Amino acid sequence: MKIFLLGSNGQLGYEATRTLFCYGDLIAVDYPEIDFTKPRDVISLINQVKPDLIYNAVAYTDVDRAEQEPEKAMLVNCHTLGEIAKYCKENIVPFIHFSTDYVFDGQKNDLYTEDDIPNPINVYGKSKFEGEQAIIESQCPNVIIRTSWVYSMRAGGFVKKVINWAQKNEELRIVDDQIGNPTWARMLAILSAKFILSSKFETLKFLEKNHGVFHLAGGGYTSRYEWTKSIINHIPKDISVKVKKINPAKSHEFPTPATRPMFSALNCEKFENTFSIKIPEWETSLKLMLEG
Ligand SMILES: NC(=O)c1ccc[n+]([C@@H]2O[C@H](COP(=O)([O-])OP(=O)(O)OC[C@H]3O[C@@H](n4cnc5c(N)ncnc54)[C@H](OP(=O)(O)O)[C@@H]3O)[C@@H](O)[C@H]2O)c1
Repeated sequence: MKIFLLGSNGQLGYEATRTLFCYGDLIAVDYPEIDFTKPRDVISLINQVKPDLIYNAVAYTDVDRAEQEPEKAMLVNCHTLGEIAKYCKENIVPFIHFSTDYVFDGQKNDLYTEDDIPNPINVYGKSKFEGEQAIIESQCPNVIIRTSWVYSMRAGGFVKKVINWAQKNEELRIVDDQIGNPTWARMLAILSAKFILSSKFETLKFLEKNHGVFHLAGGGYTSRYEWTKSIINHIPKDISVKVKKINPAKSHEFPTPATRPMFSALNCEKFENTFSIKIPEWETSLKLMLEG
């Protein structure tokens, strides 16, 4: 099976490249070989590759910058996605795509299920939600995996940021009013591959019954403050840090261009029931990642 992975240098894409090579002939590309601001070029490349399955890890993920450039966020996270979905519908190609907990407004104060109605409160969340809609409306064979608080040791992730802050500061102030599920990119890559069966035919057959939105994130949930404490507790001994104290703070003390949902943790029981598995607790994954 020829698998075309889009976005191989991102947190998820990097790990997916190192997982999906076991699932078929993997062709993995990233920017600038593939540029989602140029939908025609993207489709032309897909036409050349003629994949049996498309796995998309490309996204415009800069939540704050999206407020300043909504057109680009919509182009990358929605419009180009819609074009790929159309290709997948016309050519009967399974399409695995990722979305976010930020499609929700965070007002439920309980875990979000796939049946809850999205109501994004920032440009990024809106662009991701409209991307989901574009895929669903195309009626291509699809899986849309909503995940949350993705981290890895690749640039940009929260865990790496905390380690950098801990190396430079004796005290940290971290918000305790944002709740989500920390998700190790490696775990996400491994578990998302459960949707890829032995052949295109088998995968299509499976997707006939199991398509649409699935929540998949680290088990349990926590606040950014508790997550930070756990990161610091498990930092490998060979990384020397200055930090001595971590203080809780509130989101309003750190104004950002984009508003974040306060409680956006995902309920992943649909995924667990579909595959008869228990997703590992977020702290188990974190410890494993920090052990290297
Ligand atoms: N990170 C999170 O906390 C989080 C939370 C919930 C959901 N998600 C979703 O999970 C998925 C994976 O996220 P991630 O954390 O792995 O994201 P990431 O690390 O930001 O990776 C995104 C990838 O997309 C590429 N990309 C961005 N703009 C592009 C463009 N115009 N053309 C081609 N490639 C482009 C990036 O390339 P460059 O590096 O060259 O820009 C990068 O390789 C995404 O769908 C995201 O929305 C993430």
